[in-house]
Amino acid sequence: MRQVRTLGLLGTGVIGGGWAARALHFGIDVIAADVKPEMEGWIRGAIANAEPALARLTSAPLPPKGTLTFTADLNAMAAQADFIQENIPEQIELKQRVLAQVSRHAPAAVVIASSTSGIMPSDLQRDMLSPERLIVGHPFNPVYLLPLVELVGGNRTSEASLEAAARFYTYIGMHPLRVRREIPGHLTDRLQEALWREILHLVNDGVATTGELDESIIYGPGLRWAGMGTNQIYHLAGGEAGMRHMLAQFGPCLKWPWTKLEAPELTDRLIDRMVEGTSAQAAGRSIRELERLRDEYLVAIQQVLRQFDIGAGSTLRALEIRLYSDATTRQAIRPEDPRQPLRLVATPVRPDWIDYNGHMTDYRYLQVFGDAVDALFRRVGIDEQYRAKGRAPYTVETHVTYLAEVRQADSLYVTTQILAVDAKRLQLFHRLHRADGTLAATAEQMFVHVDVASGKSSPMAAETLAKLEAIRAAHAGLPRPPEAGRAIGMRR
Ligand SMILES: NC(=O)c1ccc[n+]([C@@H]2O[C@H](COP(=O)([O-])OP(=O)(O)OC[C@H]3O[C@@H](n4cnc5c(N)ncnc54)[C@H](O)[C@@H]3O)[C@@H](O)[C@H]2O)c1
Repeated sequence: MRQVRTLGLLGTGVIGGGWAARALHFGIDVIAADVKPEMEGWIRGAIANAEPALARLTSAPLPPKGTLTFTADLNAMAAQADFIQENIPEQIELKQRVLAQVSRHAPAAVVIASSTSGIMPSDLQRDMLSPERLIVGHPFNPVYLLPLVELVGGNRTSEASLEAAARFYTYIGMHPLRVRREIPGHLTDRLQEALWREILHLVNDGVATTGELDESIIYGPGLRWAGMGTNQIYHLAGGEAGMRHMLAQFGPCLKWPWTKLEAPELTDRLIDRMVEGTSAQAAGRSIRELERLRDEYLVAIQQVLRQFDIGAGSTLRALEIRLYSDATTRQAIRPEDPRQPLRLVATPVRPDWIDYNGHMTDYRYLQVFGDAVDALFRRVGIDEQYRAKGRAPYTVETHVTYLAEVRQADSLYVTTQILAVDAKRLQLFHRLHRADGTLAATAEQMFVHVDVASGKSSPMAAETLAKLEAIRAAHAGLPRPPEAGRAIGMRR
């Protein structure tokens, strides 16, 4: 299977646009193909809409963004892509025909994935050339923020294709969930539809409005579901005896039964109730406004889950570890001038970093300098494995000077100079620049290396000290920054 540098998209609607935004963000070039040439403007707009939220997902160093090209020639796209993701309408004959056509123009080593919400891969691969490379890669909207992708093989799919797809999806920050056996609706849509059918019944029977049913999820189960699924949550519901007790206690209810399996008839009355209910919930907000709100909280939730290393937070954490390691490799291939301060972090100023004066708020400076420290530490071997051995540098003093205004959407980068280092101490000097080179802030910091269990200072690992010492020696020729060693005082 080929290494994926270029993703080919077949169909550039809601889902194609989401795939494009995610892939470009993580450095993959995209060739987007759609039968409607006017979709070029649409997909460019969709990518621009996704960007603010994506930019906030992680501050780990990203590779240069991929580039987007658009074509209405599906065969030309197929001939150039390393991996093809199909996102055309959910009609089996249409998908079969287009997949068969594209398979005749894509080299046999190119995996072809379908975003289908529920069609089985064995049906999709029926008329294809080299059907063993057809998989279902079912994503979730918004594809650029939700990591889940269900991976399903058909009768003729090869294991190698599934593995190659899992590698590619992981590379662009996703969580591939291997579905053991193809079934209509895969796993997640089957679960979602069960809930959806009950919602339609409850609205149809006049028991609840769409708003009340959404409340029944978002104030309760929805909060739990982000970190633990239904099964794990029910295991906890059984008390000390866990799932066994839970089944003994609530199992009999399953026979009552509470739920209705058949979907209700979609009558005009039911459709009106659903539409009126959801437009009342929107309270005048447009779809775009609601999407922005959804994107903001999806980013924030993933960042919280990362602290607990569960669910989507684990995926984000693993992605960041790889991004830092890739940045180190890129740096080794194109080394910087070792005599200059290290350029460790580049970031746009995010909207939530701005205070009431329209400037970046104070503590965000510390965060950006902290990201630079984190990147330096990773470069010299202070990472999760290092800290797992019960040792870490602790910050003992920081002195920030604010020199120029930083506003929303400015691009920033930080350079770091090592002023001094010994086995237990490290003194750093950072400069925060705006993209135009203006020096916006500086920070001087002292760290003490600590044995975490005793809370006492302790020598750092010899190889880490050697790396820091080599950087310091290379920085020895730099002038001492005028802000270094400054104290706060008022001239009289
Ligand atoms: N919308 C969702 O929430 C969602 C989620 C997961 C998966 N999916 C699946 O993704 C697929 C696409 O869904 P969508 O919501 O993006 O649909 P969409 O209608 O927004 O986009 C479909 C695009 O395919 C294009 N198209 C139609 N025929 C084509 C052809 N022959 N060749 C190339 N392009 C063609 C259309 O011009 C359109 O731009 C479906 O299979 C759907 O089940 C959708």
